[in-house]
Amino acid sequence: METIARLKIDTFELTLLDIKQVDPQLLHALSISVGWPHRNSDWQMLLELGQGLAAVDEIGRVVGTVMWLRYEADFAMVCMLITLPRLQEQGAGRWLMEKAHELNEGAVFGLNATREAKRLYRSLGYGYEQKILRYQGQVTPERRATGMATHSPKAEGLVRPVAASDYDSLLRLDHAATGHDRSIVFQALLPGSSGQVLIRNDEIAAFALCRPFGRGHVLGPIVAASEDDGIAVSRPHVEAHAGSFLRADTPANNSVFTNFLIESGMQIHDSATSMGLGRAPFAPRSANGPRRIALASQAIG
Ligand SMILES: CC(C)(COP(=O)(O)OP(=O)(O)OC[C@H]1O[C@@H](n2cnc3c(N)ncnc32)[C@H](O)[C@@H]1OP(=O)(O)O)[C@@H](O)C(=O)NCCC(=O)NCCS
Repeated sequence: METIARLKIDTFELTLLDIKQVDPQLLHALSISVGWPHRNSDWQMLLELGQGLAAVDEIGRVVGTVMWLRYEADFAMVCMLITLPRLQEQGAGRWLMEKAHELNEGAVFGLNATREAKRLYRSLGYGYEQKILRYQGQVTPERRATGMATHSPKAEGLVRPVAASDYDSLLRLDHAATGHDRSIVFQALLPGSSGQVLIRNDEIAAFALCRPFGRGHVLGPIVAASEDDGIAVSRPHVEAHAGSFLRADTPANNSVFTNFLIESGMQIHDSATSMGLGRAPFAPRSANGPRRIALASQAIG
């Protein structure tokens, strides 16, 4: 290619602001610039759930972000670390992370790292890695949902839609699966989600939520003690979204569940790495008890 002319542009001077002070449209534009599928409403939910910083240039353009969600006094989930592509590999990502750490001194940190970000997080001391697979696609189940309670062929028990009175049981299961009291997450997710629960011995043994996100809907969080239970509560959601776009982010060791996703028409799109600074970010209370079959999202965990 022939060069016609050259111009050297000055380097940016960035100012950090509270992320809630900037125009949400600018945040959305930034996530689009790195190819992320978030809608305005996905940003909105995160802004209600957590805190964060926005790096702006001299004329108010948002060129970087980082957020954190304080699930408990001593734990922060870091998310939405983004720098504008033309600014990358010049230190802005590391700067934003260091500021997030400073503002949450004493906390243990967790996050889900994209491939690009993994090296940065490792160099900041993050470890306890667990692979997370992102499945997505147009779903094609064999039969459509009726909205009626159904018996699952493999999991013992009855699957039915979630009710408002199930809230405490969902929180208890999630706490047992993650080690955190994530009531703020459920308060934010439940109004916009549909849900299915598995009842066994008069108790809720598993649940799966599903809500609009990105290009379609996201299936998660799903908490169950076995992958078969996780499939039982997921199947009605898959059936309800026949012909439309569905996504699920699942720990890579859930091979029975990922086969179910593949049989439902979804494919691996990408992978991420769950990482922690200080200790493992999510720890089930017991080895055979409830665990995460799918995340609420990569940002939320
Ligand atoms: C990941 C991201 C935030 C890094 O931001 P950045 O401004 O480039 O970060 P820095 O310049 O501070 O670089 C930090 C380190 O990451 C490395 N790095 C940056 N981009 C990289 C890439 N594409 N692949 C591998 N390493 C990369 C840098 O070389 C640097 O390492 P070093 O300190 O050992 O030299 C940025 O690439 C981005 O916004 N990516 C798209 C969104 C994303 O994936 N966000 C992460 C969410 S978990």
